[in-house]
Amino acid sequence: MGAGRDGDVDGVGPVATGTAHAKAILIGEHAVVYGHPAIALPLIPLRTTARLRTVPGPLSARHGDQRVRVEDLPEAFAPVGVAVTAALAHFGLPGDDLEIELDSDIPPGAGLGASAASAHAIVEAVRVHAGQDLDEEARFELVQTAERVAHGNPSGLDARATRARTPVAFTGGVTSDVDLGGSFSFAVADTGVRSPTRDAVAGVRRFVEAEPDRGSELLERLAALTRAAGRDLGAGHIEDLGAHLDAAQEALDALGVGHPAIDRLLAAARAAGAAGAKLTGAGRGGCVIAVADSPERAAEIVTAMRDVGAVGGWVVTAGGR
Ligand code: PMV
Repeated sequence: MGAGRDGDVDGVGPVATGTAHAKAILIGEHAVVYGHPAIALPLIPLRTTARLRTVPGPLSARHGDQRVRVEDLPEAFAPVGVAVTAALAHFGLPGDDLEIELDSDIPPGAGLGASAASAHAIVEAVRVHAGQDLDEEARFELVQTAERVAHGNPSGLDARATRARTPVAFTGGVTSDVDLGGSFSFAVADTGVRSPTRDAVAGVRRFVEAEPDRGSELLERLAALTRAAGRDLGAGHIEDLGAHLDAAQEALDALGVGHPAIDRLLAAARAAGAAGAKLTGAGRGGCVIAVADSPERAAEIVTAMRDVGAVGGWVVTAGGR
């Protein structure tokens, strides 16, 4: 995350900025809802920037040419209003004569943590404006306040991973750093298919209730694969990590969160040399993640996935060079 204060822009007051990045779940989604571990990666190339300006009038948000009072924001943008209002209140600042604007290259609703990144960027812009320090837990709580409006009952994984610089493990609400024993390259791509997270989570819940034995077997399997993936990351074992991602995809398919668009991208990724690949996030669309032995190979995998219909694709690296 970065921050800064720029000079005057177009006659309005100084701009305080905050930035934050996207995240992808490497492994453990859905099982994490049942208390099992998950591992997430920061997607640092995909960013959101928030700019806070002093503009006379009530606290507002700018969207292109439009300026909307924060209290009149449509429901989809309500978390923006909550983040800026909560952060201002935290610092004891009045909201009048301020305008917030977001600029993001994180696709919304794709499981990449767009809402948490926006909240982090806003909180940081307000912190810069306030000229005060903010400890990590207070920052996390402010972001979670906005995430509760965006997601109902957020686990906190997005709020943590969109702030982290390195992969994080998440177990029972507690995050920890993941040791990396080598350099890993990942290709992340967007199917373009949108499916609400809450529907996928509810679908898994119905499955687990209808078939408790099979359901808990699959969730336990995901938990074991997540622990194995953590060991693979620690040991620098790319091929083993790939095999564990592939196996996690089978379990997620069995839980009912697959989609033909996911299968299409995964097949292309594997054909282009991925060591393994799976959906990332809630599934039924959204994004996929593949692991590769070099950034160059990951870039080829992104190209292959775009060739079969991915609407966005990114290479991220972790550890090593
Ligand atoms: O699509 P995302 O990144 O919001 O991830 C959802 C992850 C789930 O495990 C499916 C749900 C959750 O709250 O952890």
